[in-house]
Amino acid sequence: MSRLNQFCAGKVAVVTGAGSGIGRAIAQALALNGARVHCADINGEAAAAVAAGLPDAQEHTLDVSDAAAVGALADAVYDRDRRVDLLFNNAGIGHAALMAETELADWRRLIDINLMGVVHGVHAFLPRMLKQSTPSRIVNTASGAGLFPHPRMATYTAVKHAVVGLSTSLAAELEDSKVGVTILCPGIINTAITHHIVTSGETSSYRAQAIAYYEKNGASPDRVAHDLLNDVRRNKLFCLSPRTQVGVGWLLYRMSPRLAIAAMRGQISKVLGVRD
Ligand code: NAI
Repeated sequence: MSRLNQFCAGKVAVVTGAGSGIGRAIAQALALNGARVHCADINGEAAAAVAAGLPDAQEHTLDVSDAAAVGALADAVYDRDRRVDLLFNNAGIGHAALMAETELADWRRLIDINLMGVVHGVHAFLPRMLKQSTPSRIVNTASGAGLFPHPRMATYTAVKHAVVGLSTSLAAELEDSKVGVTILCPGIINTAITHHIVTSGETSSYRAQAIAYYEKNGASPDRVAHDLLNDVRRNKLFCLSPRTQVGVGWLLYRMSPRLAIAAMRGQISKVLGVRD
């Protein structure tokens, strides 16, 4: 039995955004290692398809921006399993646009899903997790964009920074409790995120290039899930995946914000195929 097997076996896990990409890979890796997984997604068919392929999984259809729906998910999970060992607040959407061309409605959408989705998960589950006699962990999906600047993605970057701020502060607050916190910061991962990305203005004309770039250069979501579960097992606060990509960007930003800005201008231009 591997260490990951030993860690996951018999655990009850909840994964939002489990119908695709990183969430699906996390759900599959958990199940493969013996966890019972609750797969939640706004796309109920996708969640059901993922759950159907796993040995001991449940599907749930919900919009994480709906606090009542996330509360109902917590009720359903606790009714069935009486505890949650691992909560992955992972559901999210992408956004890319110049700030001057970003609609306020898109700001609200990003805040509602990418930030409030995490807040709703924490709000619904944390009080019950604190009452459990067994240890548990909350894993919030942020991004490399939660750690350093991403031009043409300032809205997404601001919201993911908020997820990091929420999570590090929560970790500090829960230090003496049985609930731990891990923050997942993926880099460029080959998922469907670019297909559904919210965009406007000039940046929207680069969608096809971004999709092609992610398909060619993105790391696999399975790799992220593997890195993440091992970091969760080790009680790490941050999981940077791929570590080389996100870790280098973060280090550069802490050493020289100016250099990081220049590097990220180049990187985003490459992703979009824009002449900088
Ligand atoms: P994806 O598009 O493949 O999967 C996202 C899943 O979330 C989809 O199944 C979608 O139906 C679901 N979802 C979207 N809105 C929802 C809502 N309101 N309620 C419930 N479910 C909802 O995208 P991916 O890449 O797997 O993204 C997962 C997380 O990883 C997101 O939080 C994203 O911001 C983050 N991330 C992704 C990166 C990448 O390069 N793919 C990089 C950094 C962070």
